[in-house]
Amino acid sequence: MNDAPLLEVRHLTRHFDDVAAVEDVSFQIKPGEIWGFIGPNGAGKTTTMRICATLDLPTKGDVLVNGISVLANPDNARGKIGFMPDALGTYADTTIEEYLDFFARACGLRGDMLAKRIQSVAEFTELGHLMGRMMDSLSKGMSQRLCLAKTLLHDPQLLILDEPASGLDPRARVDFRELIRALANQGKAVLISSHILSELSETCDGVIVIEKGRLVREGKVESLASNVSKNELLNLRCLAKTSDVEIALAEHPGVLKVRESEGSFVIEFDGDEKDIADLLKTLVNKNLSPVEFHWHRIDLEELFLSFTEGTLS
Ligand SMILES: Nc1ncnc2c1ncn2[C@@H]1O[C@H](COP(=O)(O)OP(=O)(O)OP(=O)(O)O)[C@@H](O)[C@H]1O
Ligand SMILES: [Mg+2]
Repeated sequence: MNDAPLLEVRHLTRHFDDVAAVEDVSFQIKPGEIWGFIGPNGAGKTTTMRICATLDLPTKGDVLVNGISVLANPDNARGKIGFMPDALGTYADTTIEEYLDFFARACGLRGDMLAKRIQSVAEFTELGHLMGRMMDSLSKGMSQRLCLAKTLLHDPQLLILDEPASGLDPRARVDFRELIRALANQGKAVLISSHILSELSETCDGVIVIEKGRLVREGKVESLASNVSKNELLNLRCLAKTSDVEIALAEHPGVLKVRESEGSFVIEFDGDEKDIADLLKTLVNKNLSPVEFHWHRIDLEELFLSFTEGTLS
């Protein structure tokens, strides 16, 4: 597979009067990769994505789509980009078929090719049996699939999806995730935004974390997790009083930091497996009744909090 990036964001900056919505953001996505674009409300995700999709212009910087600049050659770049906005517009008195037909024509498709592409995207998103349904009668899940179908009409190499899973129920989220993975397996590059972080952990090859317009972290999920702490993280819950457990932990060698929440502890620990076994032995000998004691697995939610507030690092 070609290893050149399909999306290359270079020092992207966008100011709205005195608001720095995006400030010097750079990242790349290669064919076949799915990258999560994570950040709280107002972080600059939609602004970045709209510029990548040729819908807005940067104050500084550039975006290359398969090597083509969206500034120098937007018409050429646009044909390679599928942008799914965070809301599907309302179209009264329009069926799914009419909606797809309209956008397929807007992409320049005609004749056999037009019919073939509409059939292909409808099948992929499992909307084939709903082609005659009016758009204003669709559920949220159907609307999102229709929006994705529209985005795929011109068979773009790069997909930019702005919060595609928001408002979907858990089953629909899993279905949507499978569609996105199938598209990446076809060699497309995918940038997908969300502020529901756990939603991205199983979908994405890597994450880009943005806050107040600035890129705070970027990398494969595993490598970000290993950067959070060089020490071991352990989970502990005991039946004994919280204050007694806290005292025992504070006295124990190797315990660097302790966070407690509703009687459960996350312990940052400097030591090997034998030292960890000694810690457990101490807790038992002091009659603190440990009922949970295991390695702590960092999830994306926690990673994100550690980057934006520095709680773990
Ligand atoms: N057209 C505009 N005019 C003025 N300010 C804007 C405009 N568009 C975005 N902003 C500002 O830029 C910042 C980034 O907004 P953006 O919509 O990119 O955030 P976001 O990460 O997509 O947030 P959300 O998670 O809420 O969708 C915000 O402070 C927003 O108010
Ligand atoms: Mg947004």
